[in-house]
Amino acid sequence: VRVVVVGGGTSSEHEVSLASAGAIAAALDSDRFEVVPLIIRRDGVWAGPGGRLAGDLAEAVEILERADVAIPALHGVRGEDGTLAALLDLVGIPYVGSGLAAGAAAMSKHATKLLAASAGIATAPGVLVRHPDDPRLADLGLPLVVKPDRGGSSHGVHVVRTAHELAPAVTAALAFDGEAMVEAFVVGREIDVAVIEHPDGRLECLPALEIGVPAGEVFDTDAKYAREPDFRVPAPLDARARDALEHAALASFRALGARGLARVDFFLTDDGPVLNELNTFPGFTARSQVPRMAAAVGIDYPELVELLVRTALA
Ligand code: DAL
Ligand code: MG
Repeated sequence: VRVVVVGGGTSSEHEVSLASAGAIAAALDSDRFEVVPLIIRRDGVWAGPGGRLAGDLAEAVEILERADVAIPALHGVRGEDGTLAALLDLVGIPYVGSGLAAGAAAMSKHATKLLAASAGIATAPGVLVRHPDDPRLADLGLPLVVKPDRGGSSHGVHVVRTAHELAPAVTAALAFDGEAMVEAFVVGREIDVAVIEHPDGRLECLPALEIGVPAGEVFDTDAKYAREPDFRVPAPLDARARDALEHAALASFRALGARGLARVDFFLTDDGPVLNELNTFPGFTARSQVPRMAAAVGIDYPELVELLVRTALA
């Protein structure tokens, strides 16, 4: 089976994606899989096997056309947001994970909120703004979280605790994306639930993972990558909380139309789970959340990657 593993990309999560794609490529058994790495450099130039420049998109398409399946291990815009899925659909090869519509919806905090609301899933109340002087900002309480509408790895995200911090935070988020989501700060435990689709179409929730976040702090970019994150798998949960989280994770997966896999991130509050976001291609090194959740039920990293490929080919 010839597998093209796509990594890199032009988003701010380029390095994170290279780590995910490298780990995935290394995990595929070379007796059964021919791995063809395809890297999108920061400048958008595609590089094929051996670092040889594929040059233009036409050459990248030729590499994709010769593949049996693709693993689009990209995070963030121009990759995880449905753009690469659309290209793979046009090329006409199967691929791991979500299609265009789910990728685009999940990448937008605003679209995610609208679809979640339609399925009865709670999210933080928020407004989408394009200017730091939007009059609706004056009506919001504190504290707030300001995020680029489309992004990942907490890049451009700021917690706002005093009114004078708000406009600069919106300006900073707008530097990443043309729209910023300004939402209420949710107090709750940070819990991730992975949903995996099996080749027969069955959806399985892996054991929930709790991210230990010191009181008064948030799981920001530094906590994610500069330090060793404090992950607890399975998260200590009573049956009621676990059921509510799994129910909300599956409902979110379906509401956004996701396929293959997703990591659905929640705040577990006194009133139940509040959806933070759904990642259609979450971080995927062996030390990332989803592989650790799979390991907790005895699915090792190579098995997990192979399961994703089998589902894509089913
Ligand atoms: N966006 C990062 C890679 C994650 O969600 O894991
Ligand atoms: Mg994310």
